[in-house]
Amino acid sequence: MRVVIRKDYEAMSKTAAEIVARLVRSKPDCVLGLATGSTPVGLYQELARMCKEEGLDFSRVTTFNLDEYFGLSPDHPQSYRYFMNDNLFNHINIKKENTHVPDGTVSLDKVEEFCASYEKMIKEAGGIDLQVLGIGGDGHIAFNEPGSSLASRTRLIALEEQTRIDNARFFDSLDEVPRAALSMGVGTILEAKCCLFLANGRKKAGVVAESIEGPITSQITASALQLHPNTIAIIEEEAASELKRKEYYLYAEKMWKELGKSMI
Ligand code: GLP
Repeated sequence: MRVVIRKDYEAMSKTAAEIVARLVRSKPDCVLGLATGSTPVGLYQELARMCKEEGLDFSRVTTFNLDEYFGLSPDHPQSYRYFMNDNLFNHINIKKENTHVPDGTVSLDKVEEFCASYEKMIKEAGGIDLQVLGIGGDGHIAFNEPGSSLASRTRLIALEEQTRIDNARFFDSLDEVPRAALSMGVGTILEAKCCLFLANGRKKAGVVAESIEGPITSQITASALQLHPNTIAIIEEEAASELKRKEYYLYAEKMWKELGKSMI
């Protein structure tokens, strides 16, 4: 894993945006995997700015989101579809029909069929070129709660109480936070050609260190990224504070720079 440490949230977001923009410029019909949560908001703002001010063109880009709350309709203000429209899609020149977020309103008896069709759509689009990822308080990626198989595919999953508490800040009360979600599996995520793993804030420091430097375990599903041949972790300084090999990561980036090669 290439670990890049940035001094603050803004610098983390800018570095992430540079990576996404470089892909969009070199492959205008690329497929992006996108994440929700507070972490990627700065990245999305920077991409919107680049689209507006620098003409970064999303007109041929396709996107697939990681997950959606089960039971929330796309027009529900806390749904991930709503979040994506509000934070990114409404601010860039992407075609809405090229954006995909799992449908949280699918009926229970159609869930499996829907999840299989979501996987199929990703394959038919040529697979995900770059997958943006944040990390939950319990080390999950997408909604792959501890215990999710590292080979798991898109499915309906029950949310941990802690995850619901963490995400309750976006809802009026904890009771309103759905108890389940549709989520790409760890196995689905690992098939992306590149993963862009972002984390910020002191609260994430412990799980970030476990994910990057701890053993690979289904108890911290982000640790599965160690198995991916092309993951770039962009970690803001506070979230990086428990990394044991922090000095090495900083040194490696500096060394590549001196050799005239960028680590990202
Ligand atoms: C949810 C999402 C994850 C996200 C996590 C962290 O659980 N399903 O994809 O990484 O929240 O959110 P935040 O960035 O707000 O800390």
